[in-house]
Amino acid sequence: MGEYIAVASVSEIPPGTGRTVEVAGVWVAVFNLNGTFYAIDNACPHAGGPLGEGKVCGTDVECPWHGWKFNIVSGERVGNPTFQVPRCDVRVIDGRVEIRLPAELQFLSSN
Ligand code: FES
Repeated sequence: MGEYIAVASVSEIPPGTGRTVEVAGVWVAVFNLNGTFYAIDNACPHAGGPLGEGKVCGTDVECPWHGWKFNIVSGERVGNPTFQVPRCDVRVIDGRVEIRLPAELQFLSSN
């Protein structure tokens, strides 16, 4: 596991929204679900669509390119969990959202 890296302030990601952030050279989608933050790989496993720009519906995000939906908490594709996006560790320290890349994304990292 790498280190936690601050990516945004809590106020920049209101509940029910997400955004794309960079963590050590890797694009990650971070979401605020009712005050709890989650992060998954930004690249949709279908064709690489930016999940951080997708529409949040409950605990799911809909890929903006072709509409595949993923559970933000588990990373599994809704209705077909054989497709899964890697999840990142997230913590909030002093109002800052911090993310740590999982091992499967660290090979992409510039650090
Ligand atoms: S790239 Fe995400 S659904 Fe096609």
